[in-house]
Amino acid sequence: MVTASAPGKVYLFGEHAVVYGEPAVPCAIGLRASVTAEKRDEGLRIEAEDLSLSGFTVEYDDDETNRPDIDVPNSLVDAAMGYVDEAVAQVREAADSPDAGFDITIESKIPLGAGLGSSAAVAAAAIEAGTRELGVELSKAEIAERAYQVENTVQDGQASRADTFCSTMGGAVRIEGDDCQRIDSPDLPFVIGYDGGAGDTGALVAGVRELRDEYDFAADTVEAIGDIVRRGEQALAAENIDEIGDLMNFNHGLLSALGVSSRTLDSMVWAARDAGGLGAKLTGAGGGGCIVALDETPETLTALEYTPGCEEAFRAELDTDGVRVESG
Ligand code: MEV
Repeated sequence: MVTASAPGKVYLFGEHAVVYGEPAVPCAIGLRASVTAEKRDEGLRIEAEDLSLSGFTVEYDDDETNRPDIDVPNSLVDAAMGYVDEAVAQVREAADSPDAGFDITIESKIPLGAGLGSSAAVAAAAIEAGTRELGVELSKAEIAERAYQVENTVQDGQASRADTFCSTMGGAVRIEGDDCQRIDSPDLPFVIGYDGGAGDTGALVAGVRELRDEYDFAADTVEAIGDIVRRGEQALAAENIDEIGDLMNFNHGLLSALGVSSRTLDSMVWAARDAGGLGAKLTGAGGGGCIVALDETPETLTALEYTPGCEEAFRAELDTDGVRVESG
Protein backbone atom coordinates (compact mmCIF):
# COMPACT_ATOMS: atom_id res chain seq x y z
CA MET A 1 0.00 0.00 0.00
CA VAL A 2 1.44 3.39 -1.04
CA THR A 3 0.16 6.85 -0.15
CA ALA A 4 1.24 9.87 -2.22
CA SER A 5 0.07 13.46 -2.04
CA ALA A 6 0.20 16.52 -4.28
CA PRO A 7 -0.58 20.22 -3.72
CA GLY A 8 -3.21 22.55 -5.11
CA LYS A 9 -2.29 25.87 -6.73
CA VAL A 10 -3.13 29.53 -7.16
CA TYR A 11 -2.30 31.77 -10.11
CA LEU A 12 0.07 34.47 -8.88
CA PHE A 13 -0.10 36.04 -12.35
CA GLY A 14 -1.33 35.45 -15.86
CA GLU A 15 -4.57 33.43 -16.04
CA HIS A 16 -6.62 33.99 -19.19
CA ALA A 17 -3.73 35.71 -21.00
CA VAL A 18 -1.95 32.31 -20.92
CA VAL A 19 -4.62 31.04 -23.32
CA TYR A 20 -3.16 33.44 -25.97
CA GLY A 21 0.45 32.41 -25.51
CA GLU A 22 1.42 34.89 -22.79
CA PRO A 23 3.36 33.44 -19.87
CA ALA A 24 1.68 32.72 -16.52
CA VAL A 25 2.99 31.96 -13.04
CA PRO A 26 0.98 29.50 -10.96
CA CYS A 27 2.25 28.62 -7.47
CA ALA A 28 1.73 25.38 -5.55
CA ILE A 29 0.11 25.85 -2.13
CA GLY A 30 0.42 23.78 1.01
CA LEU A 31 -3.05 22.30 0.74
CA ARG A 32 -2.87 18.69 -0.45
CA ALA A 33 -4.84 15.85 -1.92
CA SER A 34 -3.58 12.43 -0.91
CA VAL A 35 -4.22 9.16 -2.66
CA THR A 36 -3.60 5.67 -1.31
CA ALA A 37 -3.28 2.81 -3.77
CA GLU A 38 -3.35 -0.84 -2.79
CA LYS A 39 -3.17 -3.69 -5.27
CA ARG A 40 -6.16 -5.99 -5.59
CA ASP A 41 -6.82 -8.90 -7.93
CA GLU A 42 -8.87 -6.98 -10.43
CA GLY A 43 -11.11 -3.94 -10.91
CA LEU A 44 -11.11 -0.68 -9.06
CA ARG A 45 -12.60 0.32 -5.74
CA ILE A 46 -12.57 4.05 -4.97
CA GLU A 47 -13.18 5.70 -1.64
CA ALA A 48 -13.18 9.49 -1.35
CA GLU A 49 -13.20 11.44 1.87
CA ASP A 50 -13.18 15.11 2.82
CA LEU A 51 -14.08 16.18 -0.70
CA SER A 52 -17.19 18.24 -1.15
CA LEU A 53 -18.53 14.91 -2.33
CA SER A 54 -18.57 14.40 1.45
CA GLY A 55 -17.37 10.85 1.36
CA PHE A 56 -18.51 8.07 -0.86
CA THR A 57 -17.44 4.54 -1.48
CA VAL A 58 -18.06 2.71 -4.68
CA GLU A 59 -17.02 -0.62 -6.00
CA TYR A 60 -17.03 -1.46 -9.66
CA ASP A 61 -15.08 -3.43 -12.16
CA ASP A 62 -14.31 -0.89 -14.88
CA ASP A 63 -17.66 -1.66 -16.47
CA GLU A 64 -19.68 1.48 -17.31
CA THR A 65 -22.96 -0.46 -17.00
CA ASN A 66 -22.09 -1.44 -13.48
CA ARG A 67 -22.26 2.09 -12.02
CA PRO A 68 -23.34 1.94 -8.39
CA ASP A 69 -26.33 3.78 -7.01
CA ILE A 70 -24.96 6.47 -4.67
CA ASP A 71 -26.64 9.43 -3.14
CA VAL A 72 -24.52 12.28 -4.50
CA PRO A 73 -24.94 14.29 -7.70
CA ASN A 74 -23.91 12.23 -10.70
CA SER A 75 -21.81 14.96 -12.24
CA LEU A 76 -19.59 15.10 -9.16
CA VAL A 77 -19.22 11.34 -8.97
CA ASP A 78 -18.53 11.14 -12.68
CA ALA A 79 -16.00 13.96 -12.43
CA ALA A 80 -14.11 12.39 -9.54
CA MET A 81 -14.29 8.89 -11.00
CA GLY A 82 -13.28 10.18 -14.42
CA TYR A 83 -9.99 11.54 -13.06
CA VAL A 84 -9.26 8.41 -11.05
CA ASP A 85 -10.19 6.11 -13.97
CA GLU A 86 -7.84 7.96 -16.30
CA ALA A 87 -5.07 8.12 -13.69
CA VAL A 88 -5.33 4.34 -13.21
CA ALA A 89 -5.19 3.89 -17.01
CA GLN A 90 -1.93 5.89 -16.99
CA VAL A 91 -0.58 3.79 -14.11
CA ARG A 92 -1.38 0.54 -15.90
CA GLU A 93 0.31 1.79 -19.06
CA ALA A 94 3.40 3.15 -17.24
CA ALA A 95 3.83 -0.13 -15.32
CA ASP A 96 2.98 -2.28 -18.35
CA SER A 97 0.30 -3.98 -16.20
CA PRO A 98 -2.94 -3.61 -18.15
CA ASP A 99 -4.95 -5.74 -15.71
CA ALA A 100 -3.71 -4.33 -12.40
CA GLY A 101 -6.55 -3.84 -9.90
CA PHE A 102 -6.54 -1.25 -7.11
CA ASP A 103 -8.24 -0.08 -3.96
CA ILE A 104 -7.92 3.71 -4.17
CA THR A 105 -8.59 6.06 -1.27
CA ILE A 106 -8.66 9.82 -1.82
CA GLU A 107 -8.49 12.42 0.93
CA SER A 108 -8.36 16.04 -0.08
CA LYS A 109 -8.05 19.30 1.80
CA ILE A 110 -8.40 21.23 -1.47
CA PRO A 111 -11.97 22.47 -2.00
CA LEU A 112 -13.37 20.76 -5.10
CA GLY A 113 -14.30 23.02 -8.01
CA ALA A 114 -12.84 26.15 -6.38
CA GLY A 115 -10.18 26.70 -9.04
CA LEU A 116 -7.40 25.53 -6.72
CA GLY A 117 -6.32 22.60 -8.88
CA SER A 118 -7.89 19.74 -6.90
CA SER A 119 -8.30 17.46 -9.92
CA ALA A 120 -4.68 17.93 -11.02
CA ALA A 121 -3.50 17.14 -7.49
CA VAL A 122 -5.62 13.97 -7.36
CA ALA A 123 -4.31 12.92 -10.79
CA ALA A 124 -0.63 13.47 -9.89
CA ALA A 125 -0.94 11.79 -6.47
CA ALA A 126 -2.85 8.82 -7.95
CA ILE A 127 -0.20 8.26 -10.63
CA GLU A 128 2.63 8.43 -8.08
CA ALA A 129 0.85 6.12 -5.59
CA GLY A 130 -0.33 3.62 -8.23
CA THR A 131 2.98 3.24 -10.05
CA ARG A 132 4.97 2.94 -6.80
CA GLU A 133 2.51 0.29 -5.60
CA LEU A 134 3.40 -1.66 -8.77
CA GLY A 135 7.13 -1.16 -8.09
CA VAL A 136 7.70 1.48 -10.79
CA GLU A 137 9.38 4.81 -10.02
CA LEU A 138 8.52 7.62 -12.45
CA SER A 139 10.43 10.88 -12.78
CA LYS A 140 8.53 14.03 -11.87
CA ALA A 141 8.58 15.05 -15.53
CA GLU A 142 6.84 11.79 -16.44
CA ILE A 143 4.26 12.16 -13.66
CA ALA A 144 3.54 15.73 -14.86
CA GLU A 145 3.11 14.53 -18.44
CA ARG A 146 0.84 11.64 -17.48
CA ALA A 147 -1.22 13.82 -15.09
CA TYR A 148 -1.64 16.31 -17.96
CA GLN A 149 -2.87 13.47 -20.19
CA VAL A 150 -5.42 12.59 -17.50
CA GLU A 151 -6.77 16.15 -17.34
CA ASN A 152 -6.69 16.57 -21.08
CA THR A 153 -8.69 13.39 -21.64
CA VAL A 154 -11.28 14.19 -18.96
CA GLN A 155 -11.55 17.81 -20.15
CA ASP A 156 -11.94 16.87 -23.84
CA GLY A 157 -8.60 18.25 -24.97
CA GLN A 158 -9.10 21.64 -23.27
CA ALA A 159 -6.66 21.35 -20.35
CA SER A 160 -3.62 23.56 -19.98
CA ARG A 161 -0.44 22.14 -18.47
CA ALA A 162 -0.46 24.72 -15.67
CA ASP A 163 -2.24 22.80 -12.91
CA THR A 164 -0.66 19.40 -13.42
CA PHE A 165 2.89 20.74 -13.89
CA CYS A 166 2.60 23.02 -10.85
CA SER A 167 1.10 20.32 -8.64
CA THR A 168 3.76 17.78 -9.64
CA MET A 169 6.80 20.06 -9.39
CA GLY A 170 5.75 22.35 -6.52
CA GLY A 171 6.99 25.91 -6.05
CA ALA A 172 6.41 28.76 -8.47
CA VAL A 173 6.35 27.71 -12.11
CA ARG A 174 6.32 29.52 -15.42
CA ILE A 175 4.01 28.28 -18.15
CA GLU A 176 4.21 29.53 -21.72
CA GLY A 177 2.38 27.29 -24.16
CA ASP A 178 3.85 23.80 -23.71
CA ASP A 179 7.00 25.20 -22.13
CA CYS A 180 6.87 24.67 -18.35
CA GLN A 181 9.66 25.44 -15.90
CA ARG A 182 10.10 25.84 -12.19
CA ILE A 183 11.31 29.35 -11.24
CA ASP A 184 12.87 30.85 -8.12
CA SER A 185 10.56 32.42 -5.59
CA PRO A 186 10.76 33.66 -2.02
CA ASP A 187 8.34 32.29 0.56
CA LEU A 188 4.95 33.77 -0.20
CA PRO A 189 2.43 34.31 2.65
CA PHE A 190 -0.76 33.46 0.75
CA VAL A 191 -4.18 34.15 2.18
CA ILE A 192 -7.08 32.70 0.19
CA GLY A 193 -10.72 33.75 0.24
CA TYR A 194 -13.35 31.44 -1.27
CA ASP A 195 -16.90 32.52 -2.07
CA GLY A 196 -18.17 28.93 -2.19
CA GLY A 197 -18.94 29.15 -5.90
CA ALA A 198 -17.22 28.60 -9.21
CA GLY A 199 -17.34 30.41 -12.51
CA ASP A 200 -17.96 28.60 -15.77
CA THR A 201 -14.40 28.43 -17.14
CA GLY A 202 -15.47 27.73 -20.73
CA ALA A 203 -17.91 30.66 -20.81
CA LEU A 204 -15.40 33.02 -19.16
CA VAL A 205 -12.63 32.07 -21.59
CA ALA A 206 -15.08 32.51 -24.50
CA GLY A 207 -16.10 35.94 -23.14
CA VAL A 208 -12.49 37.14 -23.10
CA ARG A 209 -12.01 35.79 -26.62
CA GLU A 210 -15.02 37.78 -27.89
CA LEU A 211 -13.80 40.98 -26.24
CA ARG A 212 -10.34 40.45 -27.63
CA ASP A 213 -11.72 39.87 -31.14
CA GLU A 214 -13.93 42.95 -30.96
CA TYR A 215 -11.72 45.52 -29.27
CA ASP A 216 -8.05 46.22 -29.86
CA PHE A 217 -7.80 47.58 -26.35
CA ALA A 218 -8.96 44.21 -24.97
CA ALA A 219 -6.22 42.51 -27.01
CA ASP A 220 -3.81 45.12 -25.58
CA THR A 221 -5.08 44.28 -22.09
CA VAL A 222 -4.24 40.61 -22.64
CA GLU A 223 -0.74 41.62 -23.77
CA ALA A 224 -0.42 43.95 -20.77
CA ILE A 225 -1.12 40.96 -18.49
CA GLY A 226 1.83 39.25 -20.22
CA ASP A 227 3.96 42.31 -19.37
CA ILE A 228 2.87 42.04 -15.73
CA VAL A 229 3.91 38.40 -15.68
CA ARG A 230 7.38 39.23 -17.08
CA ARG A 231 7.82 41.98 -14.45
CA GLY A 232 6.48 39.56 -11.86
CA GLU A 233 9.15 37.01 -12.71
CA GLN A 234 11.83 39.67 -12.11
CA ALA A 235 10.21 40.66 -8.81
CA LEU A 236 10.13 37.00 -7.75
CA ALA A 237 13.80 36.54 -8.63
CA ALA A 238 14.65 39.73 -6.68
CA GLU A 239 12.44 38.54 -3.77
CA ASN A 240 10.69 41.91 -3.89
CA ILE A 241 7.42 41.04 -2.17
CA ASP A 242 6.09 44.62 -2.23
CA GLU A 243 6.39 44.74 -6.00
CA ILE A 244 4.88 41.27 -6.36
CA GLY A 245 1.87 42.59 -4.41
CA ASP A 246 1.58 45.71 -6.58
CA LEU A 247 1.71 43.59 -9.72
CA MET A 248 -1.02 41.29 -8.35
CA ASN A 249 -3.21 44.38 -7.90
CA PHE A 250 -2.54 45.49 -11.49
CA ASN A 251 -3.27 41.97 -12.71
CA HIS A 252 -6.63 41.92 -10.91
CA GLY A 253 -7.55 45.29 -12.42
CA LEU A 254 -6.87 44.03 -15.92
CA LEU A 255 -8.79 40.78 -15.33
CA SER A 256 -11.65 42.89 -14.06
CA ALA A 257 -11.49 45.00 -17.23
CA LEU A 258 -11.80 41.78 -19.22
CA GLY A 259 -15.04 41.04 -17.39
CA VAL A 260 -14.00 37.97 -15.40
CA SER A 261 -14.27 39.31 -11.86
CA SER A 262 -17.48 39.37 -9.82
CA ARG A 263 -18.99 41.36 -6.98
CA THR A 264 -17.87 38.87 -4.31
CA LEU A 265 -14.39 38.47 -5.80
CA ASP A 266 -14.02 42.27 -5.89
CA SER A 267 -15.32 42.57 -2.29
CA MET A 268 -12.79 40.02 -1.09
CA VAL A 269 -9.98 41.71 -3.04
CA TRP A 270 -10.84 45.10 -1.52
CA ALA A 271 -11.22 43.64 1.97
CA ALA A 272 -7.72 42.19 1.65
CA ARG A 273 -6.24 45.45 0.39
CA ASP A 274 -8.01 47.53 3.08
CA ALA A 275 -6.65 45.15 5.71
CA GLY A 276 -3.10 45.86 4.57
CA GLY A 277 -2.61 42.85 2.29
CA LEU A 278 0.36 43.48 -0.02
CA GLY A 279 -1.61 42.56 -3.11
CA ALA A 280 -4.82 40.76 -3.95
CA LYS A 281 -6.36 39.31 -7.09
CA LEU A 282 -8.80 36.69 -8.26
CA THR A 283 -7.17 33.39 -9.10
CA GLY A 284 -8.19 31.07 -11.94
CA ALA A 285 -11.01 31.59 -14.39
CA GLY A 286 -12.92 34.09 -12.19
CA GLY A 287 -16.66 34.67 -12.18
CA GLY A 288 -16.65 33.24 -8.64
CA GLY A 289 -14.35 31.01 -6.64
CA CYS A 290 -11.19 32.29 -4.98
CA ILE A 291 -9.02 35.31 -4.48
CA VAL A 292 -5.41 35.19 -3.38
CA ALA A 293 -3.71 37.86 -1.28
CA LEU A 294 -0.30 38.21 0.32
CA ASP A 295 -0.13 39.05 4.01
CA GLU A 296 2.22 37.87 6.75
CA THR A 297 0.03 39.42 9.45
CA PRO A 298 -3.35 38.00 10.57
CA GLU A 299 -5.19 41.11 9.29
CA THR A 300 -6.24 39.94 5.82
CA LEU A 301 -7.45 36.58 7.10
CA THR A 302 -9.57 38.29 9.76
CA ALA A 303 -10.94 40.82 7.27
CA LEU A 304 -11.92 38.06 4.83
CA GLU A 305 -13.65 36.11 7.59
CA TYR A 306 -15.94 39.13 8.07
CA THR A 307 -16.45 39.91 4.37
CA PRO A 308 -20.00 39.22 3.13
CA GLY A 309 -19.88 36.58 0.42
CA CYS A 310 -16.63 35.01 1.68
CA GLU A 311 -17.52 31.45 2.69
CA GLU A 312 -14.08 30.33 3.74
CA ALA A 313 -10.74 32.02 4.29
CA PHE A 314 -7.46 30.28 5.01
CA ARG A 315 -3.72 30.72 4.92
CA ALA A 316 -1.50 28.69 2.64
CA GLU A 317 2.27 28.66 2.32
CA LEU A 318 4.07 28.18 -0.97
CA ASP A 319 4.56 24.41 -1.35
CA THR A 320 8.03 23.53 -2.59
CA ASP A 321 7.76 19.71 -2.65
CA GLY A 322 5.17 19.02 -5.32
CA VAL A 323 4.05 15.41 -5.54
CA ARG A 324 5.58 13.20 -2.85
CA VAL A 325 5.32 9.75 -1.36
CA GLU A 326 3.91 9.87 2.15
CA SER A 327 4.19 6.21 3.07
CA GLY A 328 4.71 2.77 1.60
C1 MEV B 1 -8.39 28.62 -15.47
O1 MEV B 1 -7.94 27.99 -14.27
C2 MEV B 1 -7.24 29.34 -16.10
C3 MEV B 1 -7.56 29.96 -17.44
O2 MEV B 1 -6.40 30.67 -17.84
C4 MEV B 1 -7.94 28.93 -18.46
C5 MEV B 1 -6.77 28.05 -18.90
O3 MEV B 1 -5.61 28.43 -18.78
O4 MEV B 1 -7.07 26.95 -19.40
C6 MEV B 1 -8.70 30.95 -17.34
